Amino acid sequence: MAIEKVGVVGCGLMGAGIAQVSAAAGFSTIVREVGPELLDKGIKGIEKNLARLVEKGTITDVAKGEVRGRLRGTTVIEDLKDCDLVIEAIIEQLPAKRDLFATLDRICPEKTIFASNTSSLTITELATATKRPQRFVGLHFFNPVPVMKLVEVVRTIATDATVYDEMVAFGTKLGKTAVRANDSTGFIVNRLLVPYLLDAIRALEEGVGSIEDIDNSMKLGCGYPMGPLTLLDFVGLDTTYYISQIMFDEFKERRFAAPPLLKRMVLAGWNGRKAGRGFYDYSDPQKPVAQKL
Ligand code: 3HC
Repeated sequence: MAIEKVGVVGCGLMGAGIAQVSAAAGFSTIVREVGPELLDKGIKGIEKNLARLVEKGTITDVAKGEVRGRLRGTTVIEDLKDCDLVIEAIIEQLPAKRDLFATLDRICPEKTIFASNTSSLTITELATATKRPQRFVGLHFFNPVPVMKLVEVVRTIATDATVYDEMVAFGTKLGKTAVRANDSTGFIVNRLLVPYLLDAIRALEEGVGSIEDIDNSMKLGCGYPMGPLTLLDFVGLDTTYYISQIMFDEFKERRFAAPPLLKRMVLAGWNGRKAGRGFYDYSDPQKPVAQKL
């Protein structure tokens, strides 16, 4: 089956990014948000990104218009009824995602493939909210979606092999390197990334080094684009805490357990860049200052 029309549910950071790369890759794309304000915010973000690409000379003004022309926003879930593929990128909560997929299952024809951008929930558990687990995969993108070159394509034991290959081909058409992963909690990236990020917090807790020195060590010593504590602020401390709890619950291994400092920072609302403070203070977003913790 050729994918022509793509639906994206959720126009937050991840959903907007997915909608942008889908429209840019030539797919007719419809993105749904719950209310007009959130939808407007998401679409404006995409338009800003496209305008920046024109300014840099990466795309022409004509191409920008074509991408925008392939993208439509809606607040009505039924508008996704004629999509060949629907990608879910809503809040990372199992009941909300299962409810959404049950609704989509009623609205969309049998041929429609469903995908979730979840970073930590079990794809199998989402797929069983529908009557089409054989047409259900994980498509896990990375923030910022237009920049990061990877998508994890996740299969469950029930995923049809042809559907899976089609989704790998779809990820490649988006300009990403599509890696194949099984439905193991955290897939490949978070299986490796989460213990690393948590270890950076443990190193800080144990006084191995300061916030800046831990970050500079991994940035300059290992060539990572961001140090781990900066990356934690970028991903969100609440998000990382949530993922670590799910991974710990699954594997019962200390490497996935949230360090006390992470829990306390989340309780205090210091959730990182989006909250204005995490390991760094973002009062001046151009010049983050390491916190005294
Ligand atoms: N949207 C679109 N483009 C963006 C962007 C955004 N939000 N942020 C940066 N860019 C673009 C810039 O325009 C620039 O493009 P250019 O090279 O064509 O001029 C390019 O990205 C580089 O940006 P900057 O020069 O401003 O800054 P950096 O060189 O520091 O790059 C970064 C920024 C790409 C975010 C880089 O620091 C990076 O790769 N950081 C690591 C990000 C990462 O690890 N993400 C994965 C997080 S884990 C995850 O998402 C999974 C989840 O399950 C937890």
